[in-house]
Amino acid sequence: MELELSGKTAIVTGGSAGIGLATAKALYREGVSVAMSNDKSLRVYAARNPERLEQAVSAIQSFSNSGGKVISISADLTQAEGVVMVVSTALEQFGQIDILINNAGSARAGTFLDLGDDAFLDAWNLKLLGYIRFVRAILPHLKSRRDGRIVNIIGGAGRTPRPNFLPGGTTNAALLNFTRGISKELAQYNIRINAISPGLTATERAEQLAQQNAQARGVSVDEIKAESLQAIPLGKIVKPEEIAALALFLVSDLASSITGAEILVDGGQTPGV
Ligand SMILES: NC(=O)c1ccc[n+]([C@@H]2O[C@H](COP(=O)([O-])OP(=O)(O)OC[C@H]3O[C@@H](n4cnc5c(N)ncnc54)[C@H](OP(=O)(O)O)[C@@H]3O)[C@@H](O)[C@H]2O)c1
Repeated sequence: MELELSGKTAIVTGGSAGIGLATAKALYREGVSVAMSNDKSLRVYAARNPERLEQAVSAIQSFSNSGGKVISISADLTQAEGVVMVVSTALEQFGQIDILINNAGSARAGTFLDLGDDAFLDAWNLKLLGYIRFVRAILPHLKSRRDGRIVNIIGGAGRTPRPNFLPGGTTNAALLNFTRGISKELAQYNIRINAISPGLTATERAEQLAQQNAQARGVSVDEIKAESLQAIPLGKIVKPEEIAALALFLVSDLASSITGAEILVDGGQTPGV
């Protein structure tokens, strides 16, 4: 399948680990074929931990002949200024942005009475407001170019609430509403925005959530993991690379008629229609 992403530029938030890193790598690898035709692909990704970011840069650059460039921008995306800084730096460095992968998120798990306002506010600030702020910050640029491709990495709990995961679930539900709602407004500028909702995906975050859930329920982490696996009809945990592959398809012209959609990648776990 020809994605024809060569020469494009992207911001991937939370690119230093998990799904974001897998997506940054996959985008860069698309640049490998670009390099062979001497085009330039420029990728930007943002997360907080500068050391981890640098390791991620090296990991991405280890792919040969991409022809792409990777820069790291360390920013706290819970802050409006952090978001604006990432977008303006990316624009300064590369002159244009074609693709936004909104991905940074880290809601805590726990029983309702153990989670105070701060747990909800942290989740809403980083992910809900973070995604909204990124779209707002990048929109004038995308509108002026009459082209833009945005993917919001959301999550199955937006549609199917889970106990002990209410900050994450409420964030995701609101983001589904946002994604679908704003897609109508953006379509007139040829800007597409879609959501991918991963089920349980093998990342550091999934490990942390399993530990937090085990603590909330007073059972072992192994029990939580076994229970989670049993609930997945396909019987396997999603790989970050599977989410990345779908994100690349959605930001390519192969998906030029798809906007406002949510695609579940969850091994068949979500009930209902
Ligand atoms: N894994 C799953 O099972 C699963 C399921 C459904 C949905 N999701 C969603 O998928 C997305 C990615 O999750 P993941 O599992 O790949 O997570 P992960 O492995 O923990 O990676 C999270 C990334 O976000 C960055 N980040 C966290 N807080 C940040 C902040 N305040 N400012 C800037 N960057 C920040 C992290 O960077 P540093 O910590 O280095 O700063 C890291 O790069 C999240 O939105 C998550 O809700 C994941």
